[in-house]
Amino acid sequence: MSQKIRGVKGTRDVLPIDTYLKDDDPWVRIGHFHLVEQSARDLFPLYGYREARTPVLERTELFVRGIGEVTDIVGKEMYTFDDRGDSVTMRPENTASLVRAYIEHNVNQQEPETKWWYLGPMFRRERQQRGRYRQFTQIGIESLGSPGPRIDAEQIELLFRWLRTLEIPFEMHLNTLGDAACRPKYREALQAYLRSRASELCEDCQKRIETNPIRVLDCKNPKCQQVAAGAPKMEQFLCEPCKVHFQGVQEMLGRLGVEFVLDPKLVRGLDYYTRTTYEAIATSGLGSQSTVAGGGRYDGLVKELGGPDIPGIGFAAGVERMALLLAQQGKERAVRPVVFIAPLGDAEAARADALAQQLRAAGLAAEVSFRKANPGNQLKRADALGARFALVLGEQELKTDRAKLKELKTGAQHEVSLSALPDEVRRLATAG
Ligand code: HAM
Repeated sequence: MSQKIRGVKGTRDVLPIDTYLKDDDPWVRIGHFHLVEQSARDLFPLYGYREARTPVLERTELFVRGIGEVTDIVGKEMYTFDDRGDSVTMRPENTASLVRAYIEHNVNQQEPETKWWYLGPMFRRERQQRGRYRQFTQIGIESLGSPGPRIDAEQIELLFRWLRTLEIPFEMHLNTLGDAACRPKYREALQAYLRSRASELCEDCQKRIETNPIRVLDCKNPKCQQVAAGAPKMEQFLCEPCKVHFQGVQEMLGRLGVEFVLDPKLVRGLDYYTRTTYEAIATSGLGSQSTVAGGGRYDGLVKELGGPDIPGIGFAAGVERMALLLAQQGKERAVRPVVFIAPLGDAEAARADALAQQLRAAGLAAEVSFRKANPGNQLKRADALGARFALVLGEQELKTDRAKLKELKTGAQHEVSLSALPDEVRRLATAG
């Protein structure tokens, strides 16, 4: 026998069945993904977002300039390779890609405000753990052209409503990172403070003092957290326009009925953010990787990537993390057959296939049995598939055109005419 080929570390298969269940990582099925995706497809257009799809492969430079050279993502997590002279990268996130497309297609000349949403796989070479994979799926939105703060509040309300609808337990965290006018002063003050306590920080954070001091604030190391607790706060350094913006976001969230907590440690892992940042954090069920969705404002990114000076704001949610939470709650969206047809012989099999064809043409999900088995076992199979009705076809049924449709949950038997089967099934299915 040839040797088995296993999937790549950090990637997962999502199947319709439970293939395995591990204590530290409950298996999610494709139905959990569908629930997350469908709810986004239903909700996001109500806010004016239209779907955009960009390629997985982009030029490496896009992420180096967009996300920032000194971030963990660009520094050590990208899947980058040489494509015969061009350096390309499998996208680690989608904001930079959408902004690239926005600039490339001159979208700002066609519309003053743009609202796009997206869904797709992202790639980061991270240490694998529960809720953290090397290929994962994001659903996100980006809005370009509105300086806020009303759009900021509208987006946060969208995320709030989406997670509430799915009954995901979470808290909305909110912060501001200031802008090009006030952040440099904060950075300097923070750096001076961190330098004075450098010996207490972990090795990574000692480096971050010079490269990316704000990231020290969200380091998970308890010693770094202790140092961070005494650090100067952005709030004290905000310029007047940033202060007014942040006040505005909070007031509007209050009006829209969105509950949130102010979190000065919410600094995000990508360099493009300005002003508002927000994260939805699961309050149970995800362990250490508890951020379900995160985002914020990126007013300088379009310009940084060679476009006009246009502001933007967005978020992305981790679909695997949401699916894990839904799996734990036993929630799923799965299509089950309405009718399972079990023929007893060859003549009946041909009729079963034709009946299934008619049912499907009428928009009813139908499955036929391809196995020879006694009626009892056929009913068991129908039950396992989760079918609503089962129909056993024998010689007698074909001759008389009458058959018994068994309702699997209740055991009720309904006599139906085979030649009018789609109508009969629809009538019974809507009756109860
Ligand atoms: P991010 O915080 O890097 O932001 O990722 C957003 C979400 O993607 C996270 O909250 C998490 O749920 C999920 N995620 C990230 N990495 C992984 C992983 N390795 N495995 C599983 N899930 C993961 C962004 O990507 C920004 N582009 C968000 C944004 C949009 N900002 C403005 N617009």
